[in-house]
Amino acid sequence: MGKLVIGLLGSPLTAGNTANLLDKALEGAKDAGCRVEKIEVIKLNIQACREIFYCREHEECAIKDDMTGMYEKFRELDSLIVATPVMTMGIPGLLKSFIDRFQVFFMAKYMRKNPMVPEEKRSHRKGLYLGISGMNVPYVFDGAKLTMKAFFEIIDVSYWDDLLINDMDTIQDLTKRPELLEEAYKKGYELGRMLQTEENNS
Ligand SMILES: Cc1cc2nc3c(=O)[nH]c(=O)nc-3n(C[C@H](O)[C@H](O)[C@H](O)COP(=O)(O)O)c2cc1C
Repeated sequence: MGKLVIGLLGSPLTAGNTANLLDKALEGAKDAGCRVEKIEVIKLNIQACREIFYCREHEECAIKDDMTGMYEKFRELDSLIVATPVMTMGIPGLLKSFIDRFQVFFMAKYMRKNPMVPEEKRSHRKGLYLGISGMNVPYVFDGAKLTMKAFFEIIDVSYWDDLLINDMDTIQDLTKRPELLEEAYKKGYELGRMLQTEENNS
């Protein structure tokens, strides 16, 4: 059975440019032999973290919503691809709420020193960040990248690579830049290839 690669879409547009980029990367990972699954945050019914801190003592959140099933999925995944547009120099609010709810993993890892992710998975889990911004300024991904790095660390995924595409307000339609979609495919494929090679060697 292939390794599990999850693609997390932060854009509210499930058929927009960011979604297109994510689909290409997941196609690459699939072609490399991995199992792939896509999560579109816009379709989830989730609340923001309320700092109840039930997760200080428990491997779950006190709020019961669509995040409940996510913790098990994020324990199991072998790699994660997050694709998101920049919004207000950061990431979209719903994606941020999704990420904040991984306080469940934060508490287990840093407070109770008992990570939620099994030890055999921790060494190989890789993260790929696909970013899109409307503006063409050098610092436009800084905020999102910091959040992504923190998220990956909390869930025991090492920041492997990124593909950052700016100036989308000018490009408008990513299908006009097939070389960028091809780059996403190649990164997804390479991620999948590395995972499958590790599996074959273990
Ligand atoms: C609410 C909102 C806020 C945005 N803020 C920024 C921003 O701060 N910087 C930027 O470069 N682009 C910003 N954008 C532009 C998006 O990053 C850009 O339109 C992107 O291509 C959207 O990707 P999508 O169509 O796949 O969702 C913003 C867009 C929206 C809707």
